Amino acid sequence: MNSILILFAHPKFEQSRTNKALVRRIESVEGLTFHDLYERYPDFHIDISYEKELLAGHDIVIWHHPMYWYSCPPLLKQWIDLVLEYGWAYGPKGTALKAKKCLNVITTGGTRALYCAEGRNHYSVNEFLRPFEQTARLCGMEYLPPFAVMGTHELTDAELERETCKYEKTIRLLQQGGSSSDLKACDLLNDVPDLN
Ligand SMILES: Cc1cc2nc3c(=O)[nH]c(=O)nc-3n(C[C@H](O)[C@H](O)[C@H](O)COP(=O)(O)O)c2cc1C
Repeated sequence: MNSILILFAHPKFEQSRTNKALVRRIESVEGLTFHDLYERYPDFHIDISYEKELLAGHDIVIWHHPMYWYSCPPLLKQWIDLVLEYGWAYGPKGTALKAKKCLNVITTGGTRALYCAEGRNHYSVNEFLRPFEQTARLCGMEYLPPFAVMGTHELTDAELERETCKYEKTIRLLQQGGSSSDLKACDLLNDVPDLN
């Protein structure tokens, strides 16, 4: 079974609705390490050795965060800047993350219909996440499509419940090692037939 590390970043988790529901659903799944970066590092002083140890001990790395200004909250960017060091994560001798899998789990205020060439946001979430995709690639990791809960402001309680259920199924599928080509055939993991 693949071990999963969730690096969670939400600056206002106490006011969250969507991520609170998602996190509540998956944080105690066996074989999964849930790591809340804002809780652990409210002062932004990241323990780099500890983070490297955590990474080394897991097969799949998930960057889970709300989309903020088409990107991630600042502490996750800080984490990427400080932890993914040259000579460790990338560069000629930087092979620590090689062959691990990596993906983003995001929530967006905008609906899926707004994230396309004709929509107000012009680009898909996959396109906005390119810097994460390429960061993972540079570190030799295999980047999988994101799992995205979109249109958060309009979600009914029942719809949110369905999304949280799908998130748990996604986690379990990743643990079991779902075929990468099946997973990569979809723009979002939400669309994987096994989950629907
Ligand atoms: C500072 C800030 C920036 C945001 N930027 C975006 C954005 O670029 N695109 C988007 O769709 N939603 C954006 N949102 C909306 C959040 O993504 C949305 O409120 C969040 O995903 C809902 O999850 P939560 O209930 O767990 O907070 C932004 C919200 C905040 C506070």
